[in-house]
Amino acid sequence: MNHFLDIDKTDPAALRSIIDQAAAMKSARAGRPKGTPDDDQPLAGRMVALIFEKPSTRTRVSFDVGVRQMGGQTLVLSGGEMQLGHGETIADTARVMSRYVDLIMIRTFEEDTLLEMAEHATVPVINGLTNRTHPCQIMADVMTFEEHRGPIAGRKVTWCGDGNNVFASFAHAAGQFGFDLTFSGPETLDPERGFIDAARAKGVTVDIDRNPERAVTGADLVVTDTWISMHDSQTAKERRHNQLRPYQVNAELMKHAKPDALFMHCLPAHRGEEATNEVMDGPNSVVFDEAENRLHAQKAIMRYCLGV
Ligand code: CP
Ligand code: NVA
Repeated sequence: MNHFLDIDKTDPAALRSIIDQAAAMKSARAGRPKGTPDDDQPLAGRMVALIFEKPSTRTRVSFDVGVRQMGGQTLVLSGGEMQLGHGETIADTARVMSRYVDLIMIRTFEEDTLLEMAEHATVPVINGLTNRTHPCQIMADVMTFEEHRGPIAGRKVTWCGDGNNVFASFAHAAGQFGFDLTFSGPETLDPERGFIDAARAKGVTVDIDRNPERAVTGADLVVTDTWISMHDSQTAKERRHNQLRPYQVNAELMKHAKPDALFMHCLPAHRGEEATNEVMDGPNSVVFDEAENRLHAQKAIMRYCLGV
């Protein structure tokens, strides 16, 4: 049984085979209607619980559709409606859910909730986003980069904006897939130092550059995300916007990256804030491929977790 809790907690060979399997499964069903089952039905007879303590469009729909394409069934549960939100411990919830379902995906606030769920569940647990990381997203992003540009190893990725949960999983991926990473954002919104140190310890270059134009110079991929994450307080909105405005990804900034540099955003985007329409809808934007690849990457992650 394998949990999928974070990219740095998953063996690099397993990560590589997840990406390769995702690409193979994607091409095997190219052009088919979305509701058509895959030729292989590795999740036949399996029940998957999808637990959301925060809103979601992509994660919710892509997991649900992915399970069904592979022959399994889903239960989509909102944390607030479960006893989990009303005093039952996470450990007991994990033990109970394990008697009913074969796999649990959870999107939650504190990382400790995810870890406690994984510790006490007797079925695999997948991280569908916490305040700290978002590994399924970055597996889809690595798949998307490689689909368009070939191996990501040795490439330069520049992150502009908030040093948040999505950046953290990019830092994990840098270490595991072997690409260089530059963070460009205000010092007050720096990522946790540990993410950077851990990636560096794996031999990749991780830089912090407060000058966004210099930071994107030579980049093969420019990435940003919302300036206010779901766990951030709205009261700090104006201050965060003021601090992050210089890091907006616009056409002028993209001119400093390589001419064929891709642009990514995990979505949902706040158009005109962290990225302009010109970039979001521009020729180098692959934001909707990323969204699609959540489906394929997560199907391969579920197969890895269940060993099927
Ligand atoms: N990118 C992402 O996880 O989107 P949702 O919040 O819609 O699931
Ligand atoms: N950083 C964002 C990602 C949303 C998919 C958040 O946590 O709200």
